[in-house]
Order: sequence, then structure tokens, then C-alpha cells
Amino acid sequence: MAGNIPLMIAGIGYCVPEAVITNEDLKKLYETSDEWIYTRTGIKERRVVSGNETAIDLGLKAAQNAILKANISTDEIDCIISASSVPPQLYPTLACTIQAKLGIKDTIPAFDMTAACTGLIYALQIARGFIGAGLYKTILIVAADNNSKITDWTDRGTSILFGDGAGAMVVKASVDGVDDILSLKISANGSIGQMIQTNMPSQCCPLVKQADEVGTGKIIMDGKEVYKFAVTTVPKYVEECIALSGLTAEEIDYLIPHQANQRIIESIQNRLKYTDDKVISNIRYYGNTSAASIPIALAEGVEQGKIKLGSTAVLCGFGAGMTWGGAVVRLREGIC
Ligand code: UT7
Repeated sequence: MAGNIPLMIAGIGYCVPEAVITNEDLKKLYETSDEWIYTRTGIKERRVVSGNETAIDLGLKAAQNAILKANISTDEIDCIISASSVPPQLYPTLACTIQAKLGIKDTIPAFDMTAACTGLIYALQIARGFIGAGLYKTILIVAADNNSKITDWTDRGTSILFGDGAGAMVVKASVDGVDDILSLKISANGSIGQMIQTNMPSQCCPLVKQADEVGTGKIIMDGKEVYKFAVTTVPKYVEECIALSGLTAEEIDYLIPHQANQRIIESIQNRLKYTDDKVISNIRYYGNTSAASIPIALAEGVEQGKIKLGSTAVLCGFGAGMTWGGAVVRLREGIC
């Protein structure tokens, strides 16, 4: 427990856009094949926003679904944290925009924080601190990412991976004294941050010397290095999170990992010696939706009957920064 007041996960929701881009579709953009993409990543298709749709629309729907499941009124929300690495606009922030769209009149705090694909776990740690310290009672976390808008659609090494989506969680001061966070750890190593970069287009004041390079605003990734980082760091880290929880790996019901690459998911699965039914993977249909990937996998897993509630799960994420994090959580009945 981070403070004195334990936290309960009260509701989870998700939303993905309608438009589907299959591996076959990508052949219209560059030379590739379904076989190449699927064998290396486990991805068959991804969803993308289209027209005027943005991650804000997805985040709003995910938030409404989570609020419904949590069975609360929007008046009860006293803080909104958005975990988005790719919001459609820098400001007003995604959290402030969601606050307005939910019709929350109270001047509660609402802010965005970025930990890329680890965003949900970082946000959960912040919420845990806030609730634990008694600062806020009911926090809405929205993880909504618009990767397709900053993907370099000419780069076949990265554009095959990403998709858009949103997940949301309502967390509250626990009503029964039971803490739903059994353990939670977050980490970062900025010295290897160049592995995944998005440098925004910018300029210096026209009266001074300009920078040598101007950002493209697109994702630039050293896929091989990210892959090596993920398979060496994350499985070990997940084991540490499990040890911290006081449970053994066998006692935990599900692994719900960030959906970055099926082979990375399997490296964690193998380390934990989990059978397939304990591992939630939907990367085949959505690709990597950054911070949204864990809550989408969780909420959809429940919807599809792959996850039975009244259980425990280990969540883990990693991504740009580089950041990574893991949590062992209780999944109460009725949360999604
Ligand atoms: O949240 C974190 C997000 N990032 C990740 O999780 C990324 C982790 N990394 C990966 O998943 C893998 O590195 C990738 C799937 C991105 C790439 O797989 P790889 O085995 O590392 O391939 P590569 O980039 O080394 O490329 C191997 C070959 C190259 O050809 P040459 O130079 O050997 O002739 C590429 O040009 O495959 C070629 N290639 C492709 N061929 C067909 C790269 N992309 C494609 C493609 N279709 N889409």
C-alpha cells in the first residue's frame, strides 16, 4: 500500500476505432507480406482512426464504459489522469478535454502524463499515491493513443506494429479495506531513450540560429534494440513484481502484458511457465496501441470470457523513454 488508504479498481472500459487495416492492405503502401509481419510480430490487423475521429473520441467512450461499470456518477470523480503518448493535441490536454466532454463542472484536477506504452501502469502508481495519501477518492484514468497519426507510413519496419485505441479505469478508495494493488513497480532509463523517438517539428525564434535538425513528428524506432531490451528486461522485472506481491507465479491467474510483439509476450510467458490460457494476447487484431493496450486486453478478455473475474493478474508494460512497469492486481467481480 502506497499510503494509508487502499485502492480498489472499480471499473474498466475500452474503445477501438472501426477502420481495420490488414497486413494485406499494407501491401498497397510498400513491399511486405502477411507472412513476414505475422511470423515476426503476431499481428494480422490493426485499427486506425479516420476522418475527424481522434483518440479523444475513443478515450471518451472508454471512460464512459469504465464509469458505467464502476457504477458511479461523474460527480464523484475528483481527479482525471490521462496516460497518452500520442494525444491528438498538446493542449487543452486530453484529460481536460475528457473532463469537459463528460460534463464534469467541478474544477477537479485533470492532467496528461506520458510514459509511452507504460502509461497505464505509471498512471496507476500516481493514482495509488493520491488515493493512499487521502488526496482524492475517485480517479479516472484514461489511456488513449493515436499512433496512426504519427506513424511514418513509408517505414515498413515500424508502421506494421502500431494501431489506435483507448482504455480507461476508475479507481477508488477501497470500500472494504482490501487493496487491489498487491504490488506495483515503475522504472525508466533515459540513457537508452534513443531506441524509440518522436521529435516534434519545431523552430527557433527566426532571429537566432536554427537547429541543425528539425523533427519529423514521426515515430523513429530501432526495432532490434527495443526487442532485445524487452526480452532481457521485462520477464525478469515481472518476476520481481510477483515476488513483491507475496504471491507465487502459479498463484496468479493471468498475465496481461503490453501488446507489442507476440514473441516478446511469449518470452514473459515462458519465464513464468504459463500455459496459453493464462496469457491474454489480442495483438493479432489491434497491434500495439501503446498505453491503451493493457486495459483493452483486460476489458476485452473479460468480455470474451478469457478472463474470469474474482481473480488476480500480473500486468506489465514497456516502451519509449525507455520506461517499464509491472503490477499484480486483484480483478473484482463486475469491474468490466
Ligand atoms: O512498445 C514498444 C514498441 N516496439 C517494439 O516492441 C518493437 C520490437 N521489435 C520488433 O518487434 C522487431 O524488431 C520488428 C518486428 C519491428 C522487426 O523485426 P526484425 O526481425 O528486427 O527485422 P529487421 O528490422 O531487422 O529487418 C529484417 C529484414 C530487413 O531486410 P534486410 O536488410 O535484411 O534485407 C528489412 O528491410 O526485413 C526487412 N523488413 C521487412 N520485410 C518485409 C523490415 N520490415 C519489413 C516488412 N516486410 N514489413
